[in-house]
Amino acid sequence: MTSLNKTILVTGGAGAIGGQLCKKLLREGCQKIIVVDNLHSGFRENVPEGCVFVQGSITDDTTLDKVFAEKPEIIFHLAAHFANQNSVEHPREDQETNIVGTLKVLEHAKQSGVERFVYASSSCVYGAESGPLKETQAPGSLETPYAVSKYAGEEYTRLYYELYGLPTVIVRYFNSFGPGERPGKYRNVIPNFIAKALKGEPLMITGTGDETRDFCFIDDIVRGTIASATVDTAVGGVYNLGSGRETTIRELAEIINRLTDNIAGIQYIPRRSWDHITRRCADISEAKKDCGYEPAVALEDQLKETIQWFRTL
Ligand SMILES: NC(=O)c1ccc[n+]([C@@H]2O[C@H](COP(=O)([O-])OP(=O)(O)OC[C@H]3O[C@@H](n4cnc5c(N)ncnc54)[C@H](O)[C@@H]3O)[C@@H](O)[C@H]2O)c1
Repeated sequence: MTSLNKTILVTGGAGAIGGQLCKKLLREGCQKIIVVDNLHSGFRENVPEGCVFVQGSITDDTTLDKVFAEKPEIIFHLAAHFANQNSVEHPREDQETNIVGTLKVLEHAKQSGVERFVYASSSCVYGAESGPLKETQAPGSLETPYAVSKYAGEEYTRLYYELYGLPTVIVRYFNSFGPGERPGKYRNVIPNFIAKALKGEPLMITGTGDETRDFCFIDDIVRGTIASATVDTAVGGVYNLGSGRETTIRELAEIINRLTDNIAGIQYIPRRSWDHITRRCADISEAKKDCGYEPAVALEDQLKETIQWFRTL
């Protein structure tokens, strides 16, 4: 078991997940946290007090030289050009950060010598395959530049483990949600639904509403990510971090409308051209077995907590 009382580098630590990860790492008593983030989709205020913040890009060698001079022992690599729709509109920026940037972080980690390198991947590497999705399943036919770049990041991470012995772990997140994620054009469905519901506007579903997703609460994502960095058996592994629960988008919209007293209802618009995913659910048995991962299943309580956070903004 690797201790957390170390110097830790979080790339993308100003992001929705990265910021919450830093908070938890501080509570767990880690020695020093360095965050590198160019604030492309992140916010300076997401980085908790007590972290060393370096504003810059992971594609910039001078920035990476600076953060690696601190000799990080554990790396959580979360920085990414986020996400599918954004990549369809900006494929080159996506490739630059998610592929070139990831390769640069891996190379610095190899040269510096680290105890653990955790790569934050995505369920999008499964393409339009339906679940329960197992890590051993071959990647599906990838639907967006983001899916290609996240999978390329996985493959480079695997190669750095196999070729150079870098102690890596790959975690595949399934639709994270919770306090910390603001709404936006390229953000996930839950923050965008909540923002609309709180304004009394109808929730727009792209598709029929029967599509399912595996929505995973941020606390579980963070706990699973930290476990993957500390458990010895996780080295070289790939783990799904989801809830293991399937929810239809209609059900999600109805719960959010009910919890916010939004009477504007739901509107249906055509599915986005690239989106062929009708069902999505993670098989989380590997993460349970190796990392002691046990996500909570109370979706409604988790949504209440998220809505509560929105009201404080
Ligand atoms: N949120 C989800 O549901 C989800 C699902 C699957 C995978 N992921 C992965 O988890 C990670 C974190 O996602 P998130 O939801 O916190 O997204 P986010 O957009 O909030 O965080 C990404 C962070 O990376 C930063 N960043 C972007 N380009 C950068 C660059 N070139 N150099 C330095 N920093 C850069 C952004 O400013 C942002 O703070 C990402 O790798 C993402 O691909 C997220």
